[in-house]
Amino acid sequence: MSEEIRKGLVGVVADTTAVSEVDPETSSLLYRGYPVPELAERCTFEEVAYLLWHGELPAPLERVAFEGEGRAQRALSDRVRAAVDLVPTAAHPMDVLRTAVSVLGANDRRVGDRAADAGKAVGLLSQIPAVIAYDQRRRRGEELVAPRPDLGFIENFLHMTFGEVPDPVVVDAFRVSLILYAEHSFNASTFTARVITSTGADLYSAVVGAIGALKGPLHGGANEAVMAVLEEVGEAGRAEEWVDRALAEKRKVMGFGHRVYKHGDSRVPTMKAALDRLVERTGNQELLALYDAIEAAMVARTGIRPNLDYPSGPAYHLMGFDTATFTPLFVAARVTGWTAHIMEQAADNALIRPLSAYVGPTERHLGPRT
Ligand code: CMC
Repeated sequence: MSEEIRKGLVGVVADTTAVSEVDPETSSLLYRGYPVPELAERCTFEEVAYLLWHGELPAPLERVAFEGEGRAQRALSDRVRAAVDLVPTAAHPMDVLRTAVSVLGANDRRVGDRAADAGKAVGLLSQIPAVIAYDQRRRRGEELVAPRPDLGFIENFLHMTFGEVPDPVVVDAFRVSLILYAEHSFNASTFTARVITSTGADLYSAVVGAIGALKGPLHGGANEAVMAVLEEVGEAGRAEEWVDRALAEKRKVMGFGHRVYKHGDSRVPTMKAALDRLVERTGNQELLALYDAIEAAMVARTGIRPNLDYPSGPAYHLMGFDTATFTPLFVAARVTGWTAHIMEQAADNALIRPLSAYVGPTERHLGPRT
């Protein structure tokens, strides 16, 4: 066996991309050349989606047309609603979302039309929040809330979830979180979407696969798992002892570490600042003290720093979302990056099909069989 095996494809450059650039040395992230903290400070989420898909921020008239296209597709059809209702509430909301996107694809006559992919992406961007909001409401025994075409993406998403538009601190923290979650080069779910696209399969199939990949706790599922860590530790004074025990038991502490960044996740400072503003609004200083204590203990013991899921988990909690909804919120954002990559892969496609080094039994033959 002479081939070099890079388990987990560590360090493997699989292809080029013009969508985003991650620099692990400087802990920086650019979407189409723009620093993400700058986009998070100055842009709407719809503008960032447009940038990822089209390579440039929209001009004023393009922006109005783009927003109008999205606003017109926010209502759930009876079929999608029925599909959501068919999934038991004992199932995870990611399973609901995966099913709903599959049903959306099966009902779209343009499904195999590559030229319609940008339009399908806009449809998914509008429909996914409607599914997430409806699912959280039905789990709480609440009625569906109809979309409001007069509201922007973020405000409408929150309105459909909570029945009202919350105060500006929540609206802004939510906007920041979705911009930060929108895109991150060849992460596991995006790569999954590219692999599926490379076979010639349609955009919806690629997004369904990406949702499956994102569900895992080593990827998007970590933002939900962070809440379990915060609850388990309980108070700041127990953080050091808890971290020591977790490390001794070889547990992975959720919300820490990253495959690419080794000096800290570029997105954390922006999200932590949004979390600080949410804490200031709610006065929940104990949560912040707990957050800081776990981080300090992890960094002191291991040098491993938080990733984006660490501040976004408690931020979504303070915004009022149910914990199981956190990873679907990641989907609502990352569907922009996934679909940008799907279009990039399809435009210059090569089937993704690596080799494997066989380590099973050497050739053998069947003996007489009774
Ligand atoms: N807790 C404890 N130890 C850790 C952690 C952690 N969170 N992350 C890495 N390590 C240790 C790991 O045990 C290993 O130690 P050793 O060399 O002694 O075996 C070393 O650091 C290298 O870790 P690795 O698992 O080989 O590194 P990786 O690049 O394969 O893993 C990771 C990256 C994100 C899977 C991992 O850090 C992890 O499991 N973190 C917790 C889950 C998490 O927060 N995931 C979110 C990822 S970022 C945003 C997103 O995609 O949602």
